[in-house]
Amino acid sequence: MKKNGKRDWFQDWSNDYDATLGRMRRHLRMLDLVTAASGVRDGDRVLDIGCGTGLLSLRFLKAANCTVVGIDKSAGMRACFRRKIRGTALERRVEVRNGDAARLDPDLGRFDVIASTVTLHHVKNKLPMIRSIRSRLKPGGRFVIGDVDLDTTGSLADPKRLGRILDFLREEWIAAMADAGPDGFRRMYDNGKKHVFNDGEYCVSFREWTALCRKAGFTGTRVVPVAKGSRFKVLRALRK
Ligand SMILES: C[S@@+](CC[C@H](N)C(=O)[O-])C[C@H]1O[C@@H](n2cnc3c(N)ncnc32)[C@H](O)[C@@H]1O
Repeated sequence: MKKNGKRDWFQDWSNDYDATLGRMRRHLRMLDLVTAASGVRDGDRVLDIGCGTGLLSLRFLKAANCTVVGIDKSAGMRACFRRKIRGTALERRVEVRNGDAARLDPDLGRFDVIASTVTLHHVKNKLPMIRSIRSRLKPGGRFVIGDVDLDTTGSLADPKRLGRILDFLREEWIAAMADAGPDGFRRMYDNGKKHVFNDGEYCVSFREWTALCRKAGFTGTRVVPVAKGSRFKVLRALRK
């Protein structure tokens, strides 16, 4: 599929997202950890930024009697999520809407929890985004990010940078083959290459995410790995 002459990556991926990344154990563990780290409670209002096919939102809805607003830029991803909840009792607790992490709609209101998994690294200019996220949290609100702890910034011509990314991709591709078979590997192989060329992927280390959260006024930052030695981590930060 094309958008402005460019392939619309997420629109295309929405068709097999749950059968590829959605089957990777490290991803599912991360979603569980993000849900737990958020401390979601009955009555909470939750924002899931880059909700995709709803894998994280559905965990929140199961963990507590909360309501969720899921925003995503991709119509295909949103359609997949809507299909999952259509006609179920969850429908009245979820709102799935078009939205951009870099420009949160002013009418979204305020939330007890704002969470995002493997999405915020797509936004290049991160500090204004985190400041805007903080402003959408109620006092006592929690912000939780699940993502890869990988610095892909720097010159594309830097062999050290390339080495860092390839070390990560080797593990990622083997895990994709093990958990999701050749189709999962093919998708994650294509996805991984985008990191090398900064093609819509701008990952930073969790040290940097933590620094950005503090700069934006968050307190109580805490980082935990998804599993011992995992490159995927979860950061929780608090708005006092
Ligand atoms: C790798 S998927 C993650 C989906 C889901 N959070 C999960 O963990 O399974 C990334 C999602 O972010 C969305 N996305 C990418 N950039 C975005 C942006 N700037 N604003 C909102 N959504 C975005 C994509 O459409 C896609 O659904």
